[in-house]
Formats: sequence, C-alpha cells, structure tokens
Amino acid sequence: MPLITPPSEVEILRKRIVELESALANVVRSDRSVFTRRTGKLIDTTPATLLAESVPAVPEDRSPIQWSGDDQRALADAFHRMWYDHRSSTWEDTHWLGHQLLKLPLDLWVYQELIWKVRPTVFIECGTNRGGSALYFASLFDLIGTGRVISLDVERHGNPPVHPRIEYLLGSSTSEEIISAVRDQITPDDVVMVFLDSDHTASHVRGELEAFAPMVTSGSYVIVEDSNINGHPVLPNWGPGPWEALVDFFEGSEDFERDPWCERYLMSFATDGFWRRR
Ligand SMILES: C[S@@+](CC[C@H](N)C(=O)[O-])C[C@H]1O[C@@H](n2cnc3c(N)ncnc32)[C@H](O)[C@@H]1O
Repeated sequence: MPLITPPSEVEILRKRIVELESALANVVRSDRSVFTRRTGKLIDTTPATLLAESVPAVPEDRSPIQWSGDDQRALADAFHRMWYDHRSSTWEDTHWLGHQLLKLPLDLWVYQELIWKVRPTVFIECGTNRGGSALYFASLFDLIGTGRVISLDVERHGNPPVHPRIEYLLGSSTSEEIISAVRDQITPDDVVMVFLDSDHTASHVRGELEAFAPMVTSGSYVIVEDSNINGHPVLPNWGPGPWEALVDFFEGSEDFERDPWCERYLMSFATDGFWRRR
C-alpha cells in the first residue's frame, strides 16, 4: 500500500483551475501597468509555506536582507490579509480621541501627510459611520489652522462627534440632492480633497467618482478606500468593488495620476487608491 495517496482527479483539476484563473488574471491586467498586479498566489498558499518561500536567508555578515520586489509583496500581502481578517482586534478596534474609525493606522499617517502638503479647505468624506474619521481630519485641520469636513452618510450610526469644522449630510452619496448640496458649497478659491469610503460596490464607487472627482482641485487628491477588497489582497471573493471601479474610471485619464508614494509602507486599505489631479 503506498504511503502517500495519489491526488484524485478532482484535486488535480481543482489545482489546474486555480493556475488558470491566476494566469487569466495576469493577462486581463497585463495592459494596466499603472495598477498593482497581484498574482493570486496567496489564495491557495498557507502562511507557513509562504513564509518559507518568501523570507530570504539572513546574510552572514549581518548586512540587511536583500528583498526582491516579489518577496516583499508576497509577505506584505500575507500580513495585510492576516491583519484585516483579525478585524475585531485590529481595524474595528481603532480610535481617534475616543471615537471609533475603521482605518489602518499606516493610512492615517499618510492622510496626515497629504493634508499637510495640500492644505485642503474643503474635505469631502463619503461614509461617515461613527464619525471617528471625520473627527480625525477635523483635528488635523485644527492643527494647521485651515479646512473643514463635509461628511456624508446614507444613515446615522450612533452620535457622531460634534466639531465646528465638521458638517454632516444625510443621504446617498450618489443622489443628485446630496451631490448638488456639496457642489453648492464649493467656491472657486477652495482647495478640494475627496475621500470615498461608503458603499464598496464597483457601481456605487464608479458613481461617486463621476460625481466627486471633477470637484477635486489641481494638486489635490481623490482617495478611494477599501480598494484592497476583492483580492487586492483581502476578501478575494467579494466581487467587483472599489479597485475595479477606480481602474475603469482612471485608466487612460489625462486629469489624474496615481501617486504610488502614498503606498510606500507596502500595505494600505487604499490599494492603487491615491489619485492626484494634475
Ligand atoms: C466603512 S464605513 C465608513 C467608515 C468611516 N469613514 C470610518 O473610517 O470610520 C461605510 C459607511 O458608508 C455608509 N454608506 C453606505 N452606503 C452609502 C451611500 N449610498 N451613501 C453614503 N453613505 C453610504 C454606511 O452607512 C457606513 O456608515
């Protein structure tokens, strides 16, 4: 009797399907060089195997490990998935001045840097939730002495914090009523930054991009959060989400360019999601 059972036909076919899906994903994205290419390697790889494959040996002379780009990506994506999947003790348990915000702290640091650099006078946030992120942005505006937040949500969640620099609007971010209520508040002198973090379906985010990206002023940004879902690299079976919407919207854009500097910490909830208006 053999010690190792040979793989069944079903197992062989299943493995082949995963390989073909992965190859197809690369073909589909191969002309999209400005966007991150993820190979789907993690979907059928256990973390232990991944670690063994990805961590280069420590050089004997104690010089820094030389990481290849692929190894860095694989390991950062594995950590990203682990951190994301432990949501109740990670991003769902994150607070600013006592108020919950659903964020990756590394991203909060990058947002602080962008706000300092761009100094927006109007910051449009789609997706208030409990208001912790609106308060975070308002606190930054307090520190730099300029800027206000218009935060939208289709429903109220608890009692979002009251702050003189925050205005909350209730309604869908793709409704004509809400879009014109925001547009009416913008003057030609405003510096406008847009932050999308509401309904994470591709069609909704696409609608938000069509409505709000034109409001972004030159040198400022539209940031698309949760573009990490649907396998970029978390929640691989989500279905088309923010990442797919932003690829469709920005591909070939002459007005906006992606800013990879904002993703230099190797992990962001806004995968390929930082777009600067030229
Ligand atoms: C991920 S949460 C926002 C998190 C918040 N920015 C934070 O960091 O704490 C998404 C929010 O979008 C809201 N939302 C869902 N669909 C929406 C829509 N069509 N228009 C506006 N907001 C919507 C939900 O009610 C929810 O509060």
